[in-house]
Amino acid sequence: MSGQGREPRGSGPWGDGTRTVRAGKGPATPGAPLRPSPVFAAPFHLGDLPPRTGGADAYARTEHPTLREFEAAVGALDGGRCLSFATGMAALTAAVLSCVGSGDRVVLPSDGYYTTRLLAAEELERFGVAVTYVATPEIGEFAAGGGLDDVRLVLLETPSNPQLDVCDIAAVARAARAAGALVAVDNTTATPLGQRPLDLGAHLTVGSDTKALTGHSDVLLGHVSVTDDELFSRLKGFRDRTGSTPGPFEAWLGHRSMSTLDLRLARQAANAAAVAEALAGSPAVTGVRWPWRSGDPSYALATRQMLRPNGVVSAELRDEAAVTALLSASRLWVAATSFGGVHSTVDRRAQWGGDAVAPGFVRFSCGIEDTADLVADLSAALADVG
Ligand SMILES: Cc1ncc(COP(=O)(O)O)c(C=O)c1O
Repeated sequence: MSGQGREPRGSGPWGDGTRTVRAGKGPATPGAPLRPSPVFAAPFHLGDLPPRTGGADAYARTEHPTLREFEAAVGALDGGRCLSFATGMAALTAAVLSCVGSGDRVVLPSDGYYTTRLLAAEELERFGVAVTYVATPEIGEFAAGGGLDDVRLVLLETPSNPQLDVCDIAAVARAARAAGALVAVDNTTATPLGQRPLDLGAHLTVGSDTKALTGHSDVLLGHVSVTDDELFSRLKGFRDRTGSTPGPFEAWLGHRSMSTLDLRLARQAANAAAVAEALAGSPAVTGVRWPWRSGDPSYALATRQMLRPNGVVSAELRDEAAVTALLSASRLWVAATSFGGVHSTVDRRAQWGGDAVAPGFVRFSCGIEDTADLVADLSAALADVG
């Protein structure tokens, strides 16, 4: 047996490059394409048998073959069963609403992606869900001190976006399980190659696959993976009823794009290491953060807990005008939100109004351009900022 069609198991004997190409793939079929093409259908022929007999597809909001291929691949990387969603926020919404009901309390990061806080303030609270906000560096102590005793779900975001603080997933998961709480991790920044929350005791791992997992800034996707079958059924039912199912083109594009995640992450991380040094060496910059940079407050835990680094760096310039000057002096760094794509981007976070950061606080997303070019361009632009 050549290994053709064998499933990669967990972090298994295969490396990240092999897993991203082969994850979730069934036995090879002679004459079939290497990567299945999208199957464009809303309803499928039912024939004269009851719907879904023998696992037949019936209607694409609840099931379609392209989505199954993509979910099998992402689930294999996460070490769980995956459900894909139209966006990262749709995935987070499903994760939270499948776990909590009226009268429950959830704990959310006060320093994570701000739309998650808006989801809580504008939607969850309206339905009688109580919300407690705890900063990522403080959640370990909060959990160990009995803070999760009346909590149904705690959502961690590590590294947090945009300030890149980390927390100890395994320690929080132990405390949560002892208190009878569920743990979900927003694993967007790390990606399923960079961190496996389910192995660390989390019940759910969630990702915005709009970011590095797909990595080309041309598709919106999200996913939730779990190991518990009952939780999987609840999430699947929630998606079937609320209809945030990705269509075949997005699922196919996501699957195709994730094949290169290992290569892209490697270059992005190499670029981030060099960019963090260049930023730290500039008098125009303070507060450089990259969890894998020795001396960073996140370094010890990130290098112990995570499997590999990524390309997101944060830092502070003097003010808004300094960021504008940097952007106009740079030829390679462009202003855009989101992160994890092949293009290097700069996002001045205060302009969105959701994060408690200074006007000159910037999230740099390192793309896959040549390291020397990115650093030279950034250094020249920083010199202009003065
Ligand atoms: C950490 C994190 N989680 C979730 C999301 C939401 O993802 P999406 O934009 O795909 O809905 C984002 C988007 O920026 C994010 O940064």
